[in-house]
Amino acid sequence: MVQATPFLVVLFLALGAPGLAVKQCILTGQWKNDLGSNMTIKILNVNGDFSGIYHTAVAATTKKILPSPLQGSQHLPNQQNQSTFGFTVHWSFTNTTTVFTGQCFVDDHGKEILKTMWLLRSYVDKIEDDWKATLVGYNVFERLESRVE
Ligand code: BTN
Repeated sequence: MVQATPFLVVLFLALGAPGLAVKQCILTGQWKNDLGSNMTIKILNVNGDFSGIYHTAVAATTKKILPSPLQGSQHLPNQQNQSTFGFTVHWSFTNTTTVFTGQCFVDDHGKEILKTMWLLRSYVDKIEDDWKATLVGYNVFERLESRVE
């Protein structure tokens, strides 16, 4: 029995651990970012397309913040389970648009983290103001609760 233990550990790492990792980095679920914003991503289809709701914690406008729809797509996880994705948020309370692009990473403890960059396009009245219409930034998201399989 004692001699069998190392064999079982190797078998788990060779078969079990990769099998568990396959379940990670599917974006479905609830996420919170470093600004306190929340997003919920609904189920992905077979192509990796998804929709969801984004509730930002901050805004460039003084209007009341409302939950806003998002649409995106994810490359389905590869053997490293660390796929890239992108999504657009169509803000429902103002006339701006944000696009996010990023990659899902899994750390040594199996925790998922989304590293993203975004562009926030503001509305300007005239083409001469186009140069000042786009903000750029980073956000890091962590999962709020485990995905239900
Ligand atoms: C606006 O004020 O024009 C709409 C809300 C923008 C919120 C931005 S999008 C990038 C950054 N990340 C967030 O979670 N919120 C802000």
